[in-house]
Amino acid sequence: MSLNKKSVDDINVKGLRVLCRCDFNVPLKEGQITDENRLVAALPTIKKLIADGGKVILCSHLGKVKTEEDKQTKTLAPVAKRLSELLGQEVKFAADPEVVGPNAKAAVEAMQDGDVILLENTRFRAEETKNGEAFSKDLASICDVFVNDAFGTAHRAHCSNVGVAGLVDTAVVGYLMQKEIDFLGNAVENPVRPFVAILGGAKVADKLNVISNLLEKCDTLIIGGGMAYTFLKAKGYEIGKSLVDETKIDYCTLEAKVAIIIL
Ligand code: 3PG
Repeated sequence: MSLNKKSVDDINVKGLRVLCRCDFNVPLKEGQITDENRLVAALPTIKKLIADGGKVILCSHLGKVKTEEDKQTKTLAPVAKRLSELLGQEVKFAADPEVVGPNAKAAVEAMQDGDVILLENTRFRAEETKNGEAFSKDLASICDVFVNDAFGTAHRAHCSNVGVAGLVDTAVVGYLMQKEIDFLGNAVENPVRPFVAILGGAKVADKLNVISNLLEKCDTLIIGGGMAYTFLKAKGYEIGKSLVDETKIDYCTLEAKVAIIIL
């Protein structure tokens, strides 16, 4: 698997409105970012788009948004502040409960070439996680070009990564996505053996395709995180009240090559 996708290096966005999907799902404690790795990792793509002279509109989700109270604590405002410091130029926060509502549209309208703004948490819109058409269209309406640099979110089919990409003429990947695809491609296609893969996460159901694909290629698959309990139960262990997906026990029983389980 080598990169067969257009990247930001294949385009010049001078004067264009570029919607760049990042993964700014960072941990926050009392409004302070406690791990900014994801912000730092996004900088090369953002700097390239600025250097081209694009109007750079950043967007991301942050956490799960299930209630109105979640919207108080899961705003991306602290990310805009810290990104401004890291970039050395203002990242204007386009506060807007509709994400792409009147405030955000006005902020985009006022942009000059090389400006950067950050939209509000995409999950403030209920359609986001359902890949609903209305929000995908709203996102597409404020950009000429779409850049997907949210590798950490690539397993989701949401409006802000999948929906919008199908509605713009030009959609490319950013450096972070490119780096991850190149790295994963080499590691999976030409592995140095023994090839051991380590996979974490809470839900087996989200990872079935990844697990099945990896099992065809690797010598040992190590499962960690919450989903390990479903494999443990499938192997006959007691797991008490730990997280389990009863509907996937059969699948986990069949996957005999999962030789090691860590918790
Ligand atoms: C992550 O942190 O794993 C990604 O940002 C995806 O977040 P999600 O599991 O809330 O979709």
